[in-house]
Amino acid sequence: MSARDCILVTGGYGYVGSHFARAAHAGGSKVVVLDDLSAGTRPTLPADVVFVRGDIADRELVPSVLREHRVTGIAHFAGKIQVGESVQKPQLYFDGNLVKSLALLDSVLAGEVRTFLFSSTAAVYGMPDVVPIPETAATKPINPYGASKLAIEHALEAYGVAHGLRWAALRYFNAAGAHADGSLRESHEPETHLLPLVIDAALGRRPPLTVFGTDYPTRDGTCIRDYVHVDDLAAAHLAALDALDQGVPVAATNLGSASGFSVREVLDTAQSVLGKPVPHTFGARRAGDPAVLLASNARAQELLHWRPVRSELATIIEDAARSRM
Ligand code: UFG
Repeated sequence: MSARDCILVTGGYGYVGSHFARAAHAGGSKVVVLDDLSAGTRPTLPADVVFVRGDIADRELVPSVLREHRVTGIAHFAGKIQVGESVQKPQLYFDGNLVKSLALLDSVLAGEVRTFLFSSTAAVYGMPDVVPIPETAATKPINPYGASKLAIEHALEAYGVAHGLRWAALRYFNAAGAHADGSLRESHEPETHLLPLVIDAALGRRPPLTVFGTDYPTRDGTCIRDYVHVDDLAAAHLAALDALDQGVPVAATNLGSASGFSVREVLDTAQSVLGKPVPHTFGARRAGDPAVLLASNARAQELLHWRPVRSELATIIEDAARSRM
């Protein structure tokens, strides 16, 4: 038996979750999506992907789904993801991310599944002291979003020791792009992420983009981020399931491309890929933005034998743009 035989994908209708569900299905897994539809998206997934509408914290539903479908592995994407909202409404994050994830873990541990992937984030590092960031860097989140994700990582570590849970907390840097066939897309409400805003501004569907801050200590004064293609993230999750099957202690592992681009570089690349200018203005810094977020992906390369293959910035922008046409 492999963890990939039947995967329960929580939040499988969300951005990264839907790309993973599709990749897992293409790789031969049976896929069961558990989603409460709170993000409002209904992505196009293969017809034989099972959909269950419900809450990850439902202590009757989850065990019955695990039994009915003979689930062998969990990929837990469901959660709230807006940094700004987490500062205004921390309960949504400590309850929606942490408390609900603990309930999900209780349901899992009451049954037989012992392989668990968790969607974590670079936000666990806060303002990093070392760049590129290794997993051994201090974890000092600066907002409730990052704190809630880090707390779940701590629970996974403890449950690994106490209950033999095989786990991976995959710390995403800037997930971006979309499946190359254009059938899945990044869609958040409200949208706050740079690439969808850039593309929609270029297409005239949104107002001009505001560049948040031009006085950072970077090569051109704008923030540098590590953009990684969502299909590369999906592939890393499958590799993590295989690694866990082989007894590799994946634990907390960065998923980034290890190359960084500034906001100005993103605008320039988008202009040349799209063949049209990206209307933009320059504004103040956004609270809580680190100047540079750049992953070391050495651990992912070593343990997962993973390296990004679609994460060239131009490819990410082409794929994201195709999905928004
Ligand atoms: N940006 C702008 N204008 C915008 C939107 C974004 O200039 O309208 C800039 C941001 O300041 C940042 C870069 O574009 O420098 C990327 O911003 P995103 O909002 O797309 O992504 P973040 O880097 O803020 O967020 C990522 C992950 C979060 C994680 C966070 C940690 O998406 O999950 O890193 O800081 F919490």
